[in-house]
Amino acid sequence: MYLCAVIYEKTENMAGYIVEDERKVTTVRLAEMKRQGKRIAMLTSYDYSMAQIVDQAGVDVILVGDSAGNVMAGNQTTIPVTLDEMIYHGRCVARGVKRALVVCDMPFGTYHASRQSAVENAVRLMQGSGVDALKLEGGGDIVEMIRGIISAGIPVMGHLGLTPQSVHKFGGYGLRAAEEAEAERLFADALALQDAGCFALVLEKIPSALTERVCSALDIPVIGIGAGPADGQVLVVHDMLGMNRGFSPKFLRRYADLFSSITNAVGHYVGDVKSGDFPNENERY
Ligand code: KIV
Repeated sequence: MYLCAVIYEKTENMAGYIVEDERKVTTVRLAEMKRQGKRIAMLTSYDYSMAQIVDQAGVDVILVGDSAGNVMAGNQTTIPVTLDEMIYHGRCVARGVKRALVVCDMPFGTYHASRQSAVENAVRLMQGSGVDALKLEGGGDIVEMIRGIISAGIPVMGHLGLTPQSVHKFGGYGLRAAEEAEAERLFADALALQDAGCFALVLEKIPSALTERVCSALDIPVIGIGAGPADGQVLVVHDMLGMNRGFSPKFLRRYADLFSSITNAVGHYVGDVKSGDFPNENERY
């Protein structure tokens, strides 16, 4: 047993910080975890400092999500995110991580035109960022591209259900696959992605019963977000840390209220500067 407390001294509040295996997480290790019934903890990160913290706290997989376009850049959708921006975020995160598997999103429009351009963009993203694997949104329509990317030696994570890059096609961010026909399509897509060689699959915002069915049918790990119990869970780190007050879907559990903590700290700093209390005698040369 390895405790994260080896890195940071364990405190009363550090419940659940037990890392059983300190080796670098690989796609092979994730498959083992599924076979052994060990759940996978995944969170997003977009920069070096956050990635270091998330990694040292014991997360198994760090996703450099194109949700960077929302939480880092303030866009309404992930559509404006570019390959160069993902290379930048991926590189920042990869530098901060020792243990977790680092997966980076291929952004909108970089993997649909042809198998060849998908492989070229995937190679550019891998080489430029230093991440361990890529994630692509979609099912049967992109299986050919996924096969090409995997044949270039790049591990691919699939993503089905609510796929935010297709928000305009869906007309919003509502629950997906609630109707039988769409649920059957999603189930077939999940099998197709496993067959194409994906090492794991994210299911976003679908009914819990469908997630359960996909988890039992697939050998690869299934990671849920708003999809009920699965082989693992993923959340956007800014959301679970309470940095984003305007976003509170039913599936989100907040583990901190950093919006309040940071506002409070910054407010104190401003007050101290204005009053002349900072810097004091001990804070100067
Ligand atoms: O971009 C992202 O953060 C994601 C997760 C929500 C799965 O794709």
